Amino acid sequence: MPKILVIHGPNLNLLGAREVNVYGKVTIDEINKDLEIRAKAGGVSLKIVQSNHEGEIVELIGTSKGAFDAILINPAAYTHTSVAIRDAISAVGVPTVEVHLSNIYSREEFRHTSLIAPVAKGQVAGFGKMSYILGLEAAIGLIEKK
Ligand code: DQA
Repeated sequence: MPKILVIHGPNLNLLGAREVNVYGKVTIDEINKDLEIRAKAGGVSLKIVQSNHEGEIVELIGTSKGAFDAILINPAAYTHTSVAIRDAISAVGVPTVEVHLSNIYSREEFRHTSLIAPVAKGQVAGFGKMSYILGLEAAIGLIEKK
């Protein structure tokens, strides 16, 4: 069964309580539950990790080659700062889909740049929890295309 590595970046453990006006009331557990349902229907298995640590995310990605068929990542604040996460994705070459709950292009200027987007297959942003589901659909599609 194909495997997808799902990475939630920093502060996403606080979803549901954090900036509810921006991110809504959805919790990370609800997102993960929906992802698992969609994964089951699509015949893929998920490993889901949340980390507030850049180095841990770099290591997860760095060891993903051969172990995972695709990566679904919300790099959160590291989207805008992390050359290390970008380089890890580029190094392993595992097809990666970038997702964001919010539309990063309609927010503060510093969120308009994603260092991850150029090395991702594509990006889904602005649809709340649905961004993850659409992103997972895209990741499954990439695996099927292979
Ligand atoms: C986010 C957008 C980022 O700019 C922000 O730092 C986050 C969450 C999103 O899902 O909308 O933590 O990645």
